[in-house]
Amino acid sequence: MIVIQHIKKEYRTGTRKFFALDDVSLEIGENEFVAITGKSGSGKSTLLNLLGTLDSVTEGKIFVDGVDLSKLSGRKIADYRNKKVGFVFQSFYLEPSYSVYNNVELPLLLAGKSGRSNRIAVEAALEAVGLKGKLREKARNLSGGEQQRVAIARAIVNNPAYILADEPCGNLDTANSDNIMNILGQLHDSGKTVVMVTHDPGDAMKAVRVVTMSDGKIVNDVKNYRFVV
Ligand SMILES: Nc1ncnc2c1ncn2[C@@H]1O[C@H](COP(=O)(O)OP(=O)(O)OP(=O)(O)O)[C@@H](O)[C@H]1O
Ligand SMILES: [Mg+2]
Repeated sequence: MIVIQHIKKEYRTGTRKFFALDDVSLEIGENEFVAITGKSGSGKSTLLNLLGTLDSVTEGKIFVDGVDLSKLSGRKIADYRNKKVGFVFQSFYLEPSYSVYNNVELPLLLAGKSGRSNRIAVEAALEAVGLKGKLREKARNLSGGEQQRVAIARAIVNNPAYILADEPCGNLDTANSDNIMNILGQLHDSGKTVVMVTHDPGDAMKAVRVVTMSDGKIVNDVKNYRFVV
């Protein structure tokens, strides 16, 4: 479970100071599927990056499964990023010259894992995104939709409980976006907690809960009516 308590994130540019996040509190339970939406600059990525420990809060606390993220350092922070959360970004960030297999295996190697169990885990992750047939292909030869599916396989290969996705469909056409949204839906069905940033109302509608941000604050937090019986 994610518990965010009164967090603020202050940025300074030159002499200007402002709060990209201004007193945000939010709880996300186990196996939720939450879309975070809102205008450009409202603080969505800032919030997701804090959840992923890619950045740290100015004030307030974030607990993930009872662990205070501000207390993590060194090896523990690396472990958190590697095993607890899987990050998916708009621009994929694959290693273009590596094969699909090697891209997906990377988090396992970083976790110190090797051998036959890696092959089993990589193949299972690629199976989950429908790309087992392409494991020898170089990442740079794949379409955008395929690259994002490889990025998702890489995000799930260490079996993290949380998937954090920042505009995962932002660079994709409708058909590929639908495919990615279906995969995120399946990951949710398989028990993962999915937190997805999107500015696309159609994609947000596919989540079970929609949190809307404006000027660094949460201004709306609703259960998607499609899921309310
Ligand atoms: N490293 C930084 N230094 C200074 N300001 C920053 C930094 N990162 C983000 N900001 C500012 O913080 C605010 C929130 O940015 P953030 O990236 O979280 O917005 P967003 O909701 O993800 O927007 P978008 O939909 O365009 O991705 C913006 O005004 C942005 O310019
Ligand atoms: Mg953003």
